[in-house]
Amino acid sequence: MIKEKIILAYEEMAEKYSELIEHKAHNAYYDRPNTLKLIPECTNKRILDAACGPGKYAEILMSKGAKVTGFDLTTKMVELAKKRNGNKGHFFVHDLTSPLVMFEKESFDIVLCALAMHYVENWTLTIQEFCRVLKPKGTLVISIEHPFFEFNHFKSEKYFEVEHVNCYWNGFGKPVNVHSFRRPLHECLDPLTDNGFYIDKLVEPKPVEELKDLDPKHYKELNEFPAFMCIRAIKRD
Ligand SMILES: C[S@@+](CC[C@H](N)C(=O)[O-])C[C@H]1O[C@@H](n2cnc3c(N)ncnc32)[C@H](O)[C@@H]1O
Repeated sequence: MIKEKIILAYEEMAEKYSELIEHKAHNAYYDRPNTLKLIPECTNKRILDAACGPGKYAEILMSKGAKVTGFDLTTKMVELAKKRNGNKGHFFVHDLTSPLVMFEKESFDIVLCALAMHYVENWTLTIQEFCRVLKPKGTLVISIEHPFFEFNHFKSEKYFEVEHVNCYWNGFGKPVNVHSFRRPLHECLDPLTDNGFYIDKLVEPKPVEELKDLDPKHYKELNEFPAFMCIRAIKRD
């Protein structure tokens, strides 16, 4: 099953992933700064970090005074999130494609899901659950692989379909085969607008200036074509 393959890949990469995203171009100088910009002032706000990975976002958000609860499909990632954050926050193993039965409706001010929705084939239930657990006018922030980047990268010939794809990642220790689902742009937006949200902001990010000297190759590449896309959606009244 594809989900087992995703778990295997992230169990394999978890330690290296946790270590390297501190400074890796796509995470530290591209995804995180652009995604964090979309998160509203969060002191004392309750945030759900869905697919929290090793808890780097949670660490940053808690340092700003947020109360963070995070979950991830990969046990090792949850262990690393707990290790990184000590006795702060609450982290547990859970699947984005299962209902968030552990939470009452309107439990959170903000839901964040960074770089993970491309592991979900059908977004409907996940987005409905994000909407249910958010307070009225609550904020959902998502970052994903850019649909046009993926269309090129996977040499797709069926733009309008949601396709199972896979490729080897070489940047987190030994090469790991990562499975995911590429989708057209409308399949990133319709599940939000059809399930209780309006789109407040869509960002095709550029890397931060600091990367220019640190990693000129990726700075140039990410200024020429977006690898990710960030969306802020607000729960409708
Ligand atoms: C690229 S990492 C991003 C981690 C974290 N959000 C960050 O940006 O640092 C993707 C994460 O999604 C998790 N993941 C993949 N499929 C998932 C699912 N169905 N439910 C929950 N987490 C999932 C993986 O275990 C991995 O930790």
